[in-house]
Amino acid sequence: MKNIDSKSHVTGKSIYLDDIPTRQGTLYAAVFSSPIAHGWIESIDFAQAFAMPGVVQIISHKDIPGENQIGGIFPDEELLAKKELHFQGQPIAVVIADTEQQAFDARKKIILKFTERKAIVDAREAQAQNSLIMPPRTFRKGDTKNAWKDCTYIFEGRAKSNGQEHLYLETQGAYAYPLENGNIKIHSSTQSPTAVQRTTAQVLNIGMHHIEVDVQRLGGGFGGKEDQATPWAVMAALGVQVLNKPVKLVLNRIDDMRMTGKRHPYDSDYKIGLSKDLKILAFEATMYQNAGAAADLSPAILGRSLFHSTNSYFIPNTKVTAYSCKTNLPPNTAFRGFGGPQGMFVIESALAHAARELKIPTYKIQHKNLLKTGDELPYGQKIEGGILLQIWKNLVQKFDLQSIENQIDTFNKSNTHFKKGFSLMPVTFGISFTKTPMNQARALVHIYSDGSIGISTGAIEMGQGVNTKLLQVAAQVFSVSANKIKLESTNTTRVANTSPTAASTGADLNGKALEMACNALLARLKTSAGKSFGVSPDDISIQDEIIYQNGIATSMNWTQLIDQAFLERVNLTENAHYATPVIHYDMSIEKGIPFAYHVYGLALTEVTVDCLRGTYEIDTVKIVHDFGKSMNPTIDFGQVEGALVQGIGWMTMEEIRYNDQGRLLSGTLSTYKIPDIYSVPKEIIINAAQSEGTDFAILKSKAVGEPPLMYGIGTYFAINQAVMAFNPKAKLSADAPFTVEKVLMGLYAADHPDR
Ligand code: MTE
Ligand code: HPA
Ligand code: MOS
Repeated sequence: MKNIDSKSHVTGKSIYLDDIPTRQGTLYAAVFSSPIAHGWIESIDFAQAFAMPGVVQIISHKDIPGENQIGGIFPDEELLAKKELHFQGQPIAVVIADTEQQAFDARKKIILKFTERKAIVDAREAQAQNSLIMPPRTFRKGDTKNAWKDCTYIFEGRAKSNGQEHLYLETQGAYAYPLENGNIKIHSSTQSPTAVQRTTAQVLNIGMHHIEVDVQRLGGGFGGKEDQATPWAVMAALGVQVLNKPVKLVLNRIDDMRMTGKRHPYDSDYKIGLSKDLKILAFEATMYQNAGAAADLSPAILGRSLFHSTNSYFIPNTKVTAYSCKTNLPPNTAFRGFGGPQGMFVIESALAHAARELKIPTYKIQHKNLLKTGDELPYGQKIEGGILLQIWKNLVQKFDLQSIENQIDTFNKSNTHFKKGFSLMPVTFGISFTKTPMNQARALVHIYSDGSIGISTGAIEMGQGVNTKLLQVAAQVFSVSANKIKLESTNTTRVANTSPTAASTGADLNGKALEMACNALLARLKTSAGKSFGVSPDDISIQDEIIYQNGIATSMNWTQLIDQAFLERVNLTENAHYATPVIHYDMSIEKGIPFAYHVYGLALTEVTVDCLRGTYEIDTVKIVHDFGKSMNPTIDFGQVEGALVQGIGWMTMEEIRYNDQGRLLSGTLSTYKIPDIYSVPKEIIINAAQSEGTDFAILKSKAVGEPPLMYGIGTYFAINQAVMAFNPKAKLSADAPFTVEKVLMGLYAADHPDR
């Protein structure tokens, strides 16, 4: 089945936030933000700005009736700065005017006097000064101290990965308007309508029941709208509360890039020990996460880095510590993979390092240590349905790894200025919010009296196709055609207390709740049909909108059944709640079963480096991925492709730069490059692994949103191989992204034999 939105997307008819017709008298807001990364406000003068044409109001912290607080995990972030300034782009005031342009023009006239302090932009520097978001966390298994003496080889090094701008096509924004009696409706481009509702209620000092948040769809979120869509919606709602007029606040691209957080940069130390036969005996790492100026989701992201710090490998002795370091950058936030990619990059760097020193291909070590069913991970969960070895075998045979290796060898021997490299990148990614209570969802299903169906859940459609999958669930349970079913917008009044659509769990959690609701309705309908045929409900089934009795078609169809059920006063609405069973986690000992299941996969990447220019091309990425039993291969393959390219962008060309004063230098699309059609792999081949799926996945179709991003890490190490083929002495420390400049420096490092 095609994505149900395809047609309206390509014809431009899909409604995004900015397409919602505005109400008469709508005002427009622009955010005035801190020009410095650290210091405090001495004085602020709005007089000139207020005198500008069209200006209606300038809102500051003084206008907040409730709490001036937006922190989700820790209450450490003001909505509008009162005195202290912690990052460039930190919101201070909101200018509201008749037009957007007038708001922008007036914003320039605000006079801010401040005292500036030295900014901290580096995570290690922050840690050295004890500037931490929270105490460090450590995951332990076995006893590394004792294990080192058994190791034949020990390698130590450092691995850095940089941040990443989400660059959702649709920037952050919200549109809020007054309803009667102080109630407010907010349209928000958010992955978490409930967070918007809750925080708005807190800031406005009113009950959550006064606020209705509605989301039709997002033009991409990628984690950037899990937490950080909230402030803009709250500001718009605050404007509504103060003025009793509709207020629209949409960030332009430059404001969005400057004011919002990104993927967390990590800087890590590792130490890895191997036996003579290449078994990893011990692994230690210390990670420094650059959290930015407030907690946001950093603590949870730090957790996932720890969960995935041993990626797909069984390591009997591990000790990994992670620091969440408070710096003067915009608070960094969720980004596809949620800390998992950063954790995996460290262990992969350690393996590449060991392989380089041992003069063997990295995959020899990777393969030797792959997780198997029954292996216990450092956090206590045991691998179930471990199919990594099978996936590996499948990929090696299908694509003939041996001949690829030989071809690359031959190519490199016969070419001086072009070198090829390849890598393998296994992925094991845990599915569930790591915070157990978040793993719940609800669905509300109406069967209308004409037989059509309306579905509301907590899932946000952000391009990943969750609405299509939800429609499929209902269509399958009822056995009715897709055109009878409508996916409603996501609305806090219809479905309350939702978790964000995140952690790749959107389809699983909401799909399971929906499946339960549909099954409950189906049971009632079968009772009704059974009664009219004088048989047990168990003898009734529905297929393609025809009612069957003991497998034989009756003259009754779906529409007639619904009509009859309605006249019998059968309840045609159902609301169901799903909470993932089994999972639990105890942070005090860092052990438990945090994940409903794991998703596995493997990518083989081949690249060619131009050794004169330092440029490179990705020749091919061949993937074997564990979809379980994919309920929608079209969507799922699209997710793998998109995530892969996003991962490659993070690892190769996307380079976020702040200067020492905490100013974003890569704050435009001319200074921040993401993959385009010319830089994507020339070939992407995706194969589905033979997989049983799992009962925790909706219709056994495993979550797919985030795991494939980490295949992109393979590109880094493939480029590394190619550079070393040209300059065997290049001692490259792992420092992503592998930009063309870094490739060039690696090719011609001082110890190159040609120099
Ligand atoms: N795909 C598209 N097209 N746009 C997005 O914003 N977000 C990703 C992934 N795929 C995203 C996407 C992220 S970060 C997550 S967590 C999942 O989708 C969320 O949706 P799901 O839980 O329904 O997979
Ligand atoms: N993943 C994504 N988002 C989250 C998580 C998680 O594990 N926990 C809280 N928000
Ligand atoms: Mo995705 S980073 O969990 O929104």
